[in-house]
Amino acid sequence: MEYLFEKGTGKHLLLLHGTGGDETSLVDIARFLDDKSTVLSFRGMIQEQGMNRFFKRNGLNQFDYESLEEESDKLLAEITRVSEEQGIALEDWVIVGYSNGANIAAHFILERETKLNKGIFFHPMSLGVVNKKVDLSEKQFWLSFGAGDPIVEKSVFDELENNLKTQGAEVTVELTQTGHQLTMPELTAAKKWLDEI
Ligand code: MLT
Repeated sequence: MEYLFEKGTGKHLLLLHGTGGDETSLVDIARFLDDKSTVLSFRGMIQEQGMNRFFKRNGLNQFDYESLEEESDKLLAEITRVSEEQGIALEDWVIVGYSNGANIAAHFILERETKLNKGIFFHPMSLGVVNKKVDLSEKQFWLSFGAGDPIVEKSVFDELENNLKTQGAEVTVELTQTGHQLTMPELTAAKKWLDEI
């Protein structure tokens, strides 16, 4: 997979972009969250009309579940491989995902045994898969939702929050009055959460 790695002295931020982004898309966000962070950022391998994604879909919110499982395994394998190569423990990463990137991250957190245990998920949603009951106690996630989001319904956001909590995770939610886009108030709230964990 294509990825970008920049060594810093602060937090370890693992970046997963939204549909149409690439490995550079969230770097400024990461620098805002922690200007000294070490950054590892992947490019989704699925192409949808020239846009990068982390798994296939057959239309808006019509997910291809076979692709979701396959790409989750490939992405986790790459995260593990690059982390080993760089001498960084999986426990040290804070995942920072936006939209499609947040969705694949939340999926593999819920459905795979992994040492990754912290995440900031901007505008994520439940993908409707609840197969495994991985123990998420000791894991912490921060999630944002926009009241005017045309892509993420409140019900599927709530479903994700509930799934994470049911499996034992500590979840912090930031509600915004805007849509699917990132806003300064939510970035500031995410930074505060990151500073405190
Ligand atoms: C997804 O496909 O993961 C969601 O619809 C969000 C997005 O469009 O990226």
